[in-house]
Amino acid sequence: MASAAERRMPSHVAIIMDGNGRWAKQRGLPRTAGHREGVKSVRAVVEESVRRGVETLTLFAFSSENWQRPRTEVNILMELFVSALRNEVKRLHENQVRLRIIGERSAFPEKLQHRIAEAEALTADNNRLNLQVAANYGGRWDIVQAARRMLADVQAGRLQPEAIDEQVFAEHLSFPDLPEPDLFIRTGGEQRLSNFVLWQSAYAELYFTDTLWPAFNESAYGLALDDYARRQRRFGRTGEQVETLAAVSAYARG
Ligand code: IPE
Ligand code: IPE
Ligand code: MG
Repeated sequence: MASAAERRMPSHVAIIMDGNGRWAKQRGLPRTAGHREGVKSVRAVVEESVRRGVETLTLFAFSSENWQRPRTEVNILMELFVSALRNEVKRLHENQVRLRIIGERSAFPEKLQHRIAEAEALTADNNRLNLQVAANYGGRWDIVQAARRMLADVQAGRLQPEAIDEQVFAEHLSFPDLPEPDLFIRTGGEQRLSNFVLWQSAYAELYFTDTLWPAFNESAYGLALDDYARRQRRFGRTGEQVETLAAVSAYARG
């Protein structure tokens, strides 16, 4: 199969799944009904990613700032996380999805930490899709934990301060083995990053949609992927340079 880039597909999609509360409110339901409904969108987007050959999908499920929500909502989100792990992992495994959780997991209830470890171990050898769920995650947390681990390496004599460059720094972030996000989607109408993968999204294409997360289905996701396919990624070069490079590599492929 041609690579994701050759098919003008993002190899890594990162999504801020926003708008659950408003979806519920529009229907006169409690906010938590929106979170429950949102699980269906997760399923749809995961399966569509597998079908389309997206290699990595990173979903923002709970931010380091979300602890500030009412206690009852936080509790229900934790319960939903546990039950989603219980109910979905078998299906993910059947679809050859490798699941990883990124974020500061020590803050989670023991039961949840245990289930996370089990799900990661079960799916560790799968290679159809890397699914990362960002939970108690913050982009700044990620950068700070990388800095802390680098300093520990320096103190232990394993790393020279002069050797620290962008690549070494990036190797200490949460998912050094995976490509950086190509496409960064936010549902729910807000146009902000809300402390999601900050460093790694330095060159991601941003896509904002008013569609609320529980209403974000395969076709809404398809629109985002189609929009991405029409973009020209320049990485600092000129548009003409990018066109020439694309023509040369198409020629080289025959
Ligand atoms: C996103 O939906 C889910 C989480 C942050 C856990 P919200 O709960 O933020 O929904 P809105 O933005 O209030 O509609
Ligand atoms: C971002 O959504 C976090 C998740 C989707 C998990 P929020 O709804 O918490 O973002 P803000 O606070 O409105 O920026
Ligand atoms: Mg929100």
